[in-house]
Amino acid sequence: MLPYTLVIQNAAQVLTLAGGPTDRPLAGADLNNWLIIENGYVACQGDKIAAVGPMAALDTTYITPETRVVDATGRVVMPGLVECHTHLVFGGNRAHEFERKLRGESYLDILASGGGILSTVRATRAASEEELMENALHHLEGFRHYGITTLEAKSGYGLDRDTELRLVRVARAAGGRQPVRVVPTFLGAHVVPPEFKEAGPRAYVDFILREVLSDLKGEAAFVDIFCEEGAFPLNVARYFLGQAHKMGFGLKIHAEQLHDLGGCEMAAELGATSVDHCDYLTPAAAARIAQQTDGRTVAVLLPLVPLFLRQEKYAPGREFIENGLPVALSTDFNPGSCPSKNLWLALSVACLKMGFTPKEAVAAATLNAAWAIGHAADCGSLEPGKRADLLVLNVGSVAEIPYWLGENPVREVVIGGESA
Ligand code: NIG
Ligand code: FE
Repeated sequence: MLPYTLVIQNAAQVLTLAGGPTDRPLAGADLNNWLIIENGYVACQGDKIAAVGPMAALDTTYITPETRVVDATGRVVMPGLVECHTHLVFGGNRAHEFERKLRGESYLDILASGGGILSTVRATRAASEEELMENALHHLEGFRHYGITTLEAKSGYGLDRDTELRLVRVARAAGGRQPVRVVPTFLGAHVVPPEFKEAGPRAYVDFILREVLSDLKGEAAFVDIFCEEGAFPLNVARYFLGQAHKMGFGLKIHAEQLHDLGGCEMAAELGATSVDHCDYLTPAAAARIAQQTDGRTVAVLLPLVPLFLRQEKYAPGREFIENGLPVALSTDFNPGSCPSKNLWLALSVACLKMGFTPKEAVAAATLNAAWAIGHAADCGSLEPGKRADLLVLNVGSVAEIPYWLGENPVREVVIGGESA
């Protein structure tokens, strides 16, 4: 009999996220109906969860003098947050553009003038691999402090072969140097780099397909593309994702962020794991995506982005949920449209501006976020056999989580059974 190595007991609420379907993300009423155990415990054996239940069911014969026992009286225990959309690795920052934005310039105007993403590309190309690593580790430490235990990290500020490969390499290596698990995504098709200005978007994605993707096998499970005015048009995004799919990559897209170009539906038709942003996605298109993909494609909503870009329009999350589209929430951490790592704040804004309930918001940043990066089998819920990634919070109920606006409720972070 393997003893428990860690037991967290007497929790006011254990947010298990269990009880819904196990073969697909939570959608519709299931986002609200997962199991909360009052006065519960979570027990771990090594890096795995061994048992979860009410205190009356805790089998104390598994507790030995070596077992670490944590008292969570009055507190919530929940799975570690899964941050399913970040641009973790970049050089410099864009504080200078914040002021331009406050004076009224739009995101796309700043990009068209050679700033925005292109300004971070210049800073990233100029940075050494050590500097990029140092920045990434600094940001990962911040994420861990907010209770993020798994994090997706996109490339996309290199836009040439060597720098893009460097960004993926740094993301992977950073994952090995601290406890937060990092899942790299290749976003070489972020915008068209200056070197391809004349040749255009199609020539640039052809270059990526020909010269870069073959070196990414086993390094990044997903490719992503920014389908937007000033970035990649729909037909080029379709071509790129179709070709990448044939090469065996999972698909993601940045789409319907600032305009409705049809990118989300196109990517979902190709079997995308997630479609991200969706502020301009209509509820009718959301219903079609849900039906066409049999509820498999997750819409990753990023509520801090419209806030930071001073945009009135937020993705209609309530309608997406009612129309059966699985939703996840993320910060989109990056130097241009969301310099915040506070995923808890994103949950609050999702409740206030997108119509989420607290339970839906929690599900969207745990189990559904894990689905959005292909990791639902090992994280996102408190169920025996999953990785022992969990949080003890300074609050007593799920309703309090998005209520304390802007606060970090995390008291203790456990990753792989170890205090992190
Ligand atoms: O997800 N929209 C495109 N890309 C990023 C922003 C990147 C940047 O502005 O540096 C996003 O919002
Ligand atoms: Fe993004």
